[in-house]
Amino acid sequence: MASLTVRQLDDTLKRLLRLRAARHGRSMEDEVRVILRDAAQESHPGGSGTEQSQAALPGRKTSRPTSEPASEDAPRVLLIIGGGIAAYKSLDLIRRLQERGAHLRCVLTAAAQHFVTPLAVGALTGERAFADLFDPQSEFDVGHIRLARDCDLVVVAPATADLLAKMAGGHADDLATAVLLATDKPILIAPAMNPGMWTAKATARNLAQLTADGVRVVGPNSGEMAERGEAGLGRMAEPLEIVAAAQSILRRGGSLAGQRVVVTSGPTHEPIDPVRYIANRSSGKQGHAIAAAAAAAGAEVTLVSGPVNLPDPPGVSVVKVETARQMFDAVEAAFPADVAIFAAAVADWRSQGTSASKIKKQLGHTPTLTLTENPDILSSIAQRTSGRPRLVIGFAAETNDVIANAQAKLRKKGCDWIVANDVSAESGVMGGDTNTVHLVTASGVESWQPQAKDQVARSLIERVAAALDGRQR
Ligand SMILES: Cc1cc2nc3c(=O)[nH]c(=O)nc-3n(C[C@H](O)[C@H](O)[C@H](O)COP(=O)(O)O)c2cc1C
Repeated sequence: MASLTVRQLDDTLKRLLRLRAARHGRSMEDEVRVILRDAAQESHPGGSGTEQSQAALPGRKTSRPTSEPASEDAPRVLLIIGGGIAAYKSLDLIRRLQERGAHLRCVLTAAAQHFVTPLAVGALTGERAFADLFDPQSEFDVGHIRLARDCDLVVVAPATADLLAKMAGGHADDLATAVLLATDKPILIAPAMNPGMWTAKATARNLAQLTADGVRVVGPNSGEMAERGEAGLGRMAEPLEIVAAAQSILRRGGSLAGQRVVVTSGPTHEPIDPVRYIANRSSGKQGHAIAAAAAAAGAEVTLVSGPVNLPDPPGVSVVKVETARQMFDAVEAAFPADVAIFAAAVADWRSQGTSASKIKKQLGHTPTLTLTENPDILSSIAQRTSGRPRLVIGFAAETNDVIANAQAKLRKKGCDWIVANDVSAESGVMGGDTNTVHLVTASGVESWQPQAKDQVARSLIERVAAALDGRQR
C-alpha cells in the first residue's frame, strides 16, 4: 500500500484537518487514523477488530456522543495525567472513554501542565481539572480524599518514571500522588518513557513493587517515541488499548467478577552459567490467553510469566520471572486466590550449581551437567492444607499416551483438573496458535475440538465460572 503522510495533503485539506483535530483534541495523525477507522467500519459494519474497545464501558448499556453528559450509572474514571510527552494522547483517551459512556475527572501533575493545559482538559471533560493539593477552593469543593474515592477506577496515563517511583514509595507530596495513595479503587497505569528510563533497574524495581501491590499495567509498547529520533520499548499504549484494559477492570457483571485468579505462563530459564540456560519451547500463548480471558470475565488476575515474547494482556497484573524457583515464590506472593491455573511449562530440573563465570570450552574435556529437581508448583499448591484455591488446574504437556498420563498426573498432584495437550512436534502446539486439549477431571475426560488458543482459554474460563457457581465440576 502506498504510504500517505499529512505533509503530502494539499493546504486546504491540511487546514481543515488541523481544525478538526484541534476540535477533537487529537494530533493530526490520530485524526486521520480515526477518519480511516470510521470509514472502514462504515463500509464493513460489525467486522472490525476494535469491536471490544468500541463497546460501552461496563456500567452503561450504550455509548454516547462526547457532547452528552454521562448518565447517573456511568462508570467514573479518575484520569491522572503525568508529565511526559505522551500527555497529548491523554486528551484523545478522555474522548475515547467518554464515547464509551464514562464520566471523567482529571488530575494533572505540575509537570503534566508543561505538556497539556488544565484548560484543554477541563474543556474536554466539562469539569475543572484538578492540579493543586493545597488549592483551598478545590479542597473545599471536592477534596483529595473524595477525588480518590468518588470513582470506580483510577487511570494514570502517561505514568512517568517519576510517578512510578513515587507510587512505589508511597509518596503523597502533590495532588496526584496523594490521591493515588488514598484511593481504595483499582489503579491502571500506562507507563510512557524513554527506553533508557524504562529499562533502568530502579524502574523495574518500582514496577515489580506496584504489580505486587495489585496495580494493573497496560503497555508500554515498542516503537517510535514522541521525541524525534528515539525508538524502543517505552511508548505509551494507544488510547484504545488503555480503554480495553479499563473495560476489563470495570466489567463488574462478568462471570468471574470478584474472583482472584493466578495464572502461570511461558517457559522457565534455568541458568547454567551467565550466558547459558536450560529452557523449553513454550511460547506462553495459551497461558497469556487464559489470563486475558479471566480478566475479560471480570476476575482480578495475576499472571506470573516466564520469559516470553508476548505483550502483557490488558487489565492483568503481570509478574515477570525467569526460573522455576522465582515462579514458585511469585505464585506464593500472589495468593490468596480463588483459582490457580498453572499453564507454564516449568523446567523439571535445574543445574545443580550455577557457574558465576562463563564455562570455557577446553579441548578434550566435556563438562558434566548435574541436575537437581525444581520445586513442584502444581502439587505443592494443590496439596496445601490451608489457603488452597478453590480450584487448582494444571496443564499436562505430553508427547504420547496423552490422556492416560494426564489422569495419572491428576491423581499424583492432587489438583482438580488437568488440561492435557499433545505437544509432539507434529501437533504444532508449542508456539502455534491452535490447541487440541482434553479436560481431565475426577468425573471423566472431555476432548475438545481443535481450536484457537484464545477460544480454548474462553471455554476454560466459562468452565471455571460454572464450577465456582457449583453448576459443573
Ligand atoms: C520534554 C520532556 C519530555 C519528558 N517526557 C517524559 C516521559 O515521556 N516519561 C517520563 O517518565 N518522564 C518524562 N520527562 C521527565 C518528567 O517530566 C519529569 O520526571 C517530571 O518530574 C515528572 O513529573 P510527574 O511524574 O510529577 O508528572 C520529560 C521531560 C521533558 C522536559
